[in-house]
Amino acid sequence: MPLGLLVHPTGSHPASWLKSGAPRDASTNIDYYRSLASLAEAGKFDLFFIADTPAARTEKLNVHTRYPSFMNCFEPITLLSALAGSTRHIGLGATASTSFYEPYNLARQFASLDHLSHGRAGWNVVTSANDYAARNFGLDKLPPHDQRYARAREFFEVVASLWDTWEDDAFVADKASCTSFVPEKFHVTDHSGKFFQVYGGLNIKRTPQGRPVIIQAGSSEDGKSFAAETAEVVFSSDPTLLAAKSFYADLKGRMPKFGRDPDSMKILAGLSVVVGDSEAEAQDKYQELQNLIHPDVGRMRLGADLEADLSGLPLDEPVPEHMIPAKSNFHQAYFNQIVAMIREQKLTLRQLYSSYERGKVTLCGTSAQIVDHMQEWIDGKAADGFMLSFHLLPDDLSAFVERVIPEMQRRGVFRKEYEGGTLRENLGFEWPANRHVATS
Ligand SMILES: Cc1cc2nc3c(=O)[nH]c(=O)nc-3n(C[C@H](O)[C@H](O)[C@H](O)COP(=O)(O)O)c2cc1C
Repeated sequence: MPLGLLVHPTGSHPASWLKSGAPRDASTNIDYYRSLASLAEAGKFDLFFIADTPAARTEKLNVHTRYPSFMNCFEPITLLSALAGSTRHIGLGATASTSFYEPYNLARQFASLDHLSHGRAGWNVVTSANDYAARNFGLDKLPPHDQRYARAREFFEVVASLWDTWEDDAFVADKASCTSFVPEKFHVTDHSGKFFQVYGGLNIKRTPQGRPVIIQAGSSEDGKSFAAETAEVVFSSDPTLLAAKSFYADLKGRMPKFGRDPDSMKILAGLSVVVGDSEAEAQDKYQELQNLIHPDVGRMRLGADLEADLSGLPLDEPVPEHMIPAKSNFHQAYFNQIVAMIREQKLTLRQLYSSYERGKVTLCGTSAQIVDHMQEWIDGKAADGFMLSFHLLPDDLSAFVERVIPEMQRRGVFRKEYEGGTLRENLGFEWPANRHVATS
């Protein structure tokens, strides 16, 4: 049962920075990040994952001051490169956007991270979902959803080709014959497409994993089809067992069309847990945190995913249906979830922002209840593993490692030791052959 950790410095809850035991400067404190990664590694997590959007917010700063997540953080590949030296086993995954990188830069950076970490790098391929990032890269707005995915596909093709520049045994360092590499084992990428023109080769040898593990988290039609073709790990975000089962069957069912075995992808369902001695105690902890969400923050986060300005609306009345935009251009799954909550549950604005969790499920309970839930999802083919996000870091991660991991190990559903040396090996994936060797 693979486990990933979605890392936000003080936790994933919008009020986490007010309550967590992390240092005040957690988001830019490398020693703190090292301690978090060590804790996750002690818990034998597969993946330490850093999400990203390449932008600070430039509006509503009086609200963002109450919710500072996007305003002060490390660039993820740089951060993971530093963590590569202080960890030995855990996978190191980061988001990088196909809308704002060039394939050559990205291929090179992730190849370097894979070498620095001895084969533990993973790339979360996203197309990004906000206009703040677009404005940092010469655009007024994010390009339309279908265009972003068209660019993502071409981007991925180029990156994958660049990662196969060198055959695995190309560098021989043979002093006697004065041959450092075998020229025939170098392969130029010659790509001319709609979005990219690339003629060249990567100036770093093939990576320990052959190539970094490919992660994806889109749940739109384009997102699912792109994932079925390319992704090895998918973060799913469905709030119910039924919806998760349907997503799982849908996504894995698309893979044979691309000549892929469904077992060559692990779907990790998003899950937040609060562990307590009793369910009631865990619920109380959660509620205490929910009560700390500032109304301005609740309103803003909901409005961002609904792609509507909710700032003038009263808190204790339902959100009028005419506020719902005709369609979404950012996170379609989150958008659909909020729309369903407005239409079907008729919640007030305050109730909405207090219960909306961006597709995740928050599970409050004892260790046994939490593991029961996880097993039910695995047995029900709703997930292969979980992408855990904790409301409070390091607090809730410590509790999970101390109390839930041993229960999982006792039941024989989770590792006691890492199986392999690389992220790919720990996930049970095969080595990806170099395309030039495979075809020769
Ligand atoms: C666990 C998880 C992590 C994600 N991390 C990021 C991220 O770091 N940056 C980002 O722009 N989107 C992130 N996303 C969003 C998705 O990758 C995807 O881009 C988004 O849902 C829009 O794609 P879609 O319209 O195909 O669903 C994440 C989603 C999940 C479930």
